[in-house]
Amino acid sequence: MESYIVDWFSLIFRWLHVITGIAWIGASFYFVWLDNNLQNPPQWKEDKGIKGDLWAIHGGGIYEVAKYKLSPEQMPETLHWFKWEAYSTWLTGMVLLSIIYYLGADSYLIDKQIADLSQGQAIAIGLAFITGSWVLYELLCSSPLGKNGYVIAGILIAAGVATSYSLAHLFSGRGAYIHFGAIIGTMMAGNVFRVIMPSQRALLAAIEKGESPDPKWGAKAKLHSTHNTYLTLPLIFIMISSHYPMTYAHQFNWIILLVIVAITALARQYFVLQHKKIHKPSILVAAAAATLVLAIVIAPTPIKVAAVAKNQEQVITEKAKAIITERCTSCHSATATDDIFVMAPGGVMLDNLEQMKMWAPRIKARSIDSKDMPFMNKTHMTDEERAVVAQWIIITTK
Ligand code: HEC
Repeated sequence: MESYIVDWFSLIFRWLHVITGIAWIGASFYFVWLDNNLQNPPQWKEDKGIKGDLWAIHGGGIYEVAKYKLSPEQMPETLHWFKWEAYSTWLTGMVLLSIIYYLGADSYLIDKQIADLSQGQAIAIGLAFITGSWVLYELLCSSPLGKNGYVIAGILIAAGVATSYSLAHLFSGRGAYIHFGAIIGTMMAGNVFRVIMPSQRALLAAIEKGESPDPKWGAKAKLHSTHNTYLTLPLIFIMISSHYPMTYAHQFNWIILLVIVAITALARQYFVLQHKKIHKPSILVAAAAATLVLAIVIAPTPIKVAAVAKNQEQVITEKAKAIITERCTSCHSATATDDIFVMAPGGVMLDNLEQMKMWAPRIKARSIDSKDMPFMNKTHMTDEERAVVAQWIIITTK
């Protein structure tokens, strides 16, 4: 019952997190697009201080958007800020992290084969990584090193490598990935809170006083929003990564994480250049090629299974069925008995041969190609048993 209630909280907060995330990233994509498509305004608009002009049609109306060089002659009564999208995405994300990975630490975060942590230790380590990374990032950017964007980028990349390695050697694969994502998300929301909003406030204050804004803020805001720009696409990959055990459940999951972060950041570079009116589709081609290479390099090595003689098929099938029953049906059954997963996860039930056949390709993907199932190997499946199941899969899918 308890996990039933937890599931509802998880559903509600995931739903909110996705909505707020779409609003945040959607707004920032929209403004980048807007900036990219501004046209030179007609003279009469230029005389009013407008530097870019854009017309659009959407949802049954025609919109006219103008971007000012600095400020309009008169400030409007309502000026829309875009900050709550960022804050609420972060807040709902932290709640979701707590519900799934902290409340359910024993199932999702702790992998005893990687590090024998207690729930309290795992949570403390997770939170220390998130807050610690943010504090270090803030200190780095405000230190003298912060003056040089390339030096900072270099340090951040090295820190990213160390973080990915450490997390993967402390937590389960999913737990490591999601913490890497939480660190990135915290930096991004922190940038909005600590730099982007204050710099916009400083801009407004200067305009009100009729002064030109302190260039310090402009430079700071630029550095931090550059970081946010490159972190968006990697973060979205991490948000959906828990569906892909070929990444997080791989032996070298921490390297795969870094490679995908690099590829997705590279894809972002294409749009950044587009912004500067430089068209370089070769960047997207390179990102696609790198993805292909990664897919080939991490492809599962087929388990060597002895050919099955016709008269052995029945025996293998019986054995495989017994193994699946013993190792999988505590969770994947209409009458699941697991303490946490009381309803068959993913709707996958393996109570009889028919159901096993129906799921054969996914059984292969999850318990042969990657050893992601049984979940955290809670039911202690052995490699010999995997080999028998692999033989059965060959029989059923031929
Ligand atoms: C301790 C509980 C538990 C055990 C035991 C377990 N699983 Fe799972 N399984 C899960 C959970 C939780 C999910 C959903 C999360 C996910 O997809 O990663 C899942 C999802 C799946 C899926 C559906 C996702 C997809 O890729 O289509 C398959 C297939 C699967 N398990 C196969 C197996 C097999 C085969 C075994 C036994 C060798 C097994 N599981 C044992 C908990 C378990």
